[in-house]
Amino acid sequence: ALTDTKEMFRKAYEGHYAIGAFNVNNMEIIQGIMEAAHEEQSAVILQASEGARKYAGSPYIVDLVKTAVRQYPEIPVALHLDHGSCFEVCKDCIDGGFTSVMFDGSKHPFEENVRITKQVVEYAHAHGVVVEAELGRLAGVEDMVSVDAKDAIFTDPEEAAEFVALTGCDSLAIAIGTSHGAYKYSGEPYLDYERLEKVGKLLPNYPIVLHGASTVIPEYVAKCNEFGGKVLGAKGVPEDMLRKAATMAVCKINIDTDIRLAMTAAIRESLVKHPENFDPRSYLKAGRQAVKDMVSHKIQAVVGSSHSI
Ligand code: G3H
Ligand code: 13P
Ligand code: ZN
Ligand code: NA
Repeated sequence: ALTDTKEMFRKAYEGHYAIGAFNVNNMEIIQGIMEAAHEEQSAVILQASEGARKYAGSPYIVDLVKTAVRQYPEIPVALHLDHGSCFEVCKDCIDGGFTSVMFDGSKHPFEENVRITKQVVEYAHAHGVVVEAELGRLAGVEDMVSVDAKDAIFTDPEEAAEFVALTGCDSLAIAIGTSHGAYKYSGEPYLDYERLEKVGKLLPNYPIVLHGASTVIPEYVAKCNEFGGKVLGAKGVPEDMLRKAATMAVCKINIDTDIRLAMTAAIRESLVKHPENFDPRSYLKAGRQAVKDMVSHKIQAVVGSSHSI
């Protein structure tokens, strides 16, 4: 059923796992993720960015997700706005059938972030929708030579607790070393578990969100490159590091880059291996299958939500 994230996060927190939040942009991606969620009997979050809403058109996303939910009624599915940049976009999604929205005010000063998050929370809660907020700046750790530099960018645990109390947001994305995209670390991968632990102590039973949590799976990068791609120097968060975070307060793990890589690798392979083919169904089917396989693997080995419904 289409649902908000409250119950899935509550169970995830107690069960020391997380829920995978996968970015969706078209029908094949939604189908691949849902096939995997069905096979793994796991709740799942389907999230659309402002870019996804622009690409597909928001009603297409909403209706594709509703159709997928009808196909697998036993699977709890949340439809979530990823990185909403202002109140109006959040409102538009709430009015349009989303069950969860993120207001990303991380670029604003603390007070301004609090002010807009509160406004979103008020409207969302009045409409039965939950709100994810963000505090801290996502960034790789290599630029941060000193503890002071890290403190300036990573989420301050005390501030996080204050932010949640002031805004009433239902979950909070924090910065502890991850970053968006395929190039997360030039040096060694790093996650600040100590900071996560502190946040967990100050906000008991409160769901924390990890953005920028793709592993940048080497097999898919290699396949992209083998079949004419050029993805060089890509590096993500190792699976065991994410798995550990999922056993802690992290209840939502965001994955987009790994979907892009899996799908592109499979489509490149299909096009190169079958140069006579020009039926899009053929290579999109390969792309969809790769998304399904990758998401199944995430659910089993990374977020740990298999057979949790
Ligand atoms: O965090 C960003 C997500 O990967 C979505 O990316 O804005 O290009 O759709 P996008
Ligand atoms: P990745 O780029 O690591 O997949 O992160 C996705 C994300 O955080 C979406 O909000
Ligand atoms: Zn993100
Ligand atoms: Na968890």
